[in-house]
Formats: sequence, structure tokens, C-alpha cells
Amino acid sequence: MTEPATVIIPDELKPSDGRFGSGPSLVRPEQVLALVEGPRAGLLGTSHRAAPVRSLVGALREGVAELFGLPPGYEVLLGDGGATAVWDALTFGLIEQRSQHAVSGEFGAKFAQAATAAPQLGQPTVIEVQPGRRALCQAEADVDVYAWTHNETSTGVMTPVLRPAGAAEGQLVVVDGTSGAGGLLMDAAQTDFYYFSPQKNFGADAGVWFAFASPAGVERIERIAAGGRWMPSFLSLSKALANSRKNQTLNTPGIAALILMEAQVNWLLEHGGLAWAHARTCQSSRVLYEWAEACPVAEPFVQEAVARSQVVVTIDFAESVDAARLVATLRANGIVDVDPYRSLGRNQLRVATFVSREPADVVKLTQCLDYLLDAWGVV
Ligand SMILES: Cc1ncc(COP(=O)(O)O)c(C=O)c1O
Repeated sequence: MTEPATVIIPDELKPSDGRFGSGPSLVRPEQVLALVEGPRAGLLGTSHRAAPVRSLVGALREGVAELFGLPPGYEVLLGDGGATAVWDALTFGLIEQRSQHAVSGEFGAKFAQAATAAPQLGQPTVIEVQPGRRALCQAEADVDVYAWTHNETSTGVMTPVLRPAGAAEGQLVVVDGTSGAGGLLMDAAQTDFYYFSPQKNFGADAGVWFAFASPAGVERIERIAAGGRWMPSFLSLSKALANSRKNQTLNTPGIAALILMEAQVNWLLEHGGLAWAHARTCQSSRVLYEWAEACPVAEPFVQEAVARSQVVVTIDFAESVDAARLVATLRANGIVDVDPYRSLGRNQLRVATFVSREPADVVKLTQCLDYLLDAWGVV
């Protein structure tokens, strides 16, 4: 049990919005308004097979393609179940025989576990490192998928989206973009299947997944499905692809999630797309890393500077600071969800600096931290 809050942070130090969680994350009020005002007003509670929702899905697929600058032939897919469902779908519908996984934390590990357990596949190669470090895929002769996580939400480690040097043609690059997508600049041509849940930088509701696939990725999906491998309908990427092409999903989607997502994609495009988002998350995260480096009782958890995430910042505290008490006191003051990833077990804060966050609010968060550490007499 942590102590109840004893320190009241003055209002003038507090950020304008206290939602600093790594997902579900801050939703901009303008996104919420899009549910009831503007072109999508009236869509909630209507059929996902009728023209208005299909036109929303079509616009969203085009918006995602524009935002990520998809090369010709790339296709945008979506389905229900979030990125967790995609891990199983990939074991059925994209890994042909054997995969290689670079694991920098819990989320990458979950996909590696799914591939390890899949009876239809050979045992994968798993390159795993200590939490807080960055694992990279390496060219290997007999794998047909290289997989990693763009931004490891559990540890705050960011990994570039680049085909492994020496990767052969036909070896597909599959990247979990769940917390990186929309906040980090990337070259879509470096991937064959990039997928994400929208409750991070896109500030949408969870429960759906989005992906884009290269022509080679599409060819693999269609070939495996045509080969007759058994797969549950819900996890069939070829069914997701066929439905997406009709601007539908296999089963009923959360329409609110789609509207929230579209509002965010449009907002990003209006402001300059991924380059703008990248600069903004870089600015926000830098504030926190510089604060941690300057603070005598804190330090960035990720030692290697280039691996430090721009969108999920992890800060370790010295023993003299009870980070759980810090988390609880911040929560009592309206600043929520800065707990470390549950199984990491560190004396840590984890702060999302997703693109919706005003960088000025991140500065305010550091002022709140200074205020509490000062009030407790630890600095
Ligand atoms: C990197 C990453 N991958 C996958 C997931 C799973 O997403 P979902 O809960 O939407 O299935 C998460 C959730 O936080 C994540 O951060």
C-alpha cells in the first residue's frame, strides 16, 4: 500500500491535462467532438455495413496511406482485436515456416511466445536483451520473417525501422508499431507488414488494429491462405485484407474508435504529418531526459541515448525516492498513469510523450516532480 497524498501541488504548476499514460492515452477534446459534430456526426449507432461508415473506413485507409507516405502497391488493412490479435494472426497468416524476433521488452516477447507456441511453425530465433537495452534483428538464412517492436512500451526502448543488413529478398520485415506509429518518423518502404493499435499516438479507443502491407506482404498473406493452412476466421489476414478492400471489417468494429482515429490522422496531416509529430515528441521527451540527467536522484532508465524512446520515457529513481509514492501523489493531484510497466518491477516512472501532448505540459510535469521531491526533502 502506498501512503495517501500529503502534498497538494499548486494549480499553476500543473499541466493542462493530467493524462500521461502510455495507453489508453490522452484523447484531444477535438477528437471527442468529432463523434457528435462535423461530417461524422450521427454515425455512432449506425450499421458498419452501410455507406456512411464504409466511407469513413475508406477515408481512414487513405489517410493512413498518406500519413505514412505508403509506396505504390502498399495496402492498408484493419480488423478487430488490437495488436494482440495480430500476433496470433501473423503466426497463422504471415510466417511461412520460421521467424526471427528481436525482443527488447514484454510486447516483443509476447509475439515471440506466440510464434514459439504455434505448432504449424518451426522454432523461431529469439534475440533477447536485458530490459532497457535494444535488440536488433540480424540476417539469417532460413527465416522468412524478421520481427521487432518499433517502440517497446514496456521499457521505453525505440528501435529503428530498417531492413536488417544482408536480409534476402522474400524475407519479410514485420514491425509492431503500436506505440511508435504516428509519433515517430519512419520509412514505410523498410517494412512489409507494419501494425498498430490506435490507443497511443492516435489517441483513439482500443479494440481495433491497423496495418499496412507491402506487395510482398500481400502476396505472402494470399499465398498462405490459398495453400489451405487451417486458420480461425477471426485471425485470418486474408479475410481482413478482403474486407478492408471493401472498407469493412470481418466483424463489427467500435465506430467511436474509427472516428477518433480519423480525427487524429487529419490533425496530424494538417500539421505536417509524421515529420511534425516526430519533432514534437522529440521536444517533449528531451525535456524529461534532460530533467532526469540533471536531477541528483533520477536517471534515464535506457542508458544508450539513441535507444531512448521519444514517446515513452522511463526514469529510474534512487532508493531515497519511493517512486510508487510519487505515482500515488501525482495521481491524487490529477496527474495519472505514470506507473512503470507492471512486470518490470523497477523504482521508476513511465511517462508518455505522445504527439497529442503539449510540450509545455511536459515542462510543467517536471516542475511538479521538482515540487514533490523538494517537499519531501530528497533534493
Ligand atoms: C508495443 C505494443 N504492442 C502491442 C500491444 C497490445 O495492444 P492491444 O492491447 O491493443 O492488443 C501494446 C499495448 O500496450 C503495445 O504497447
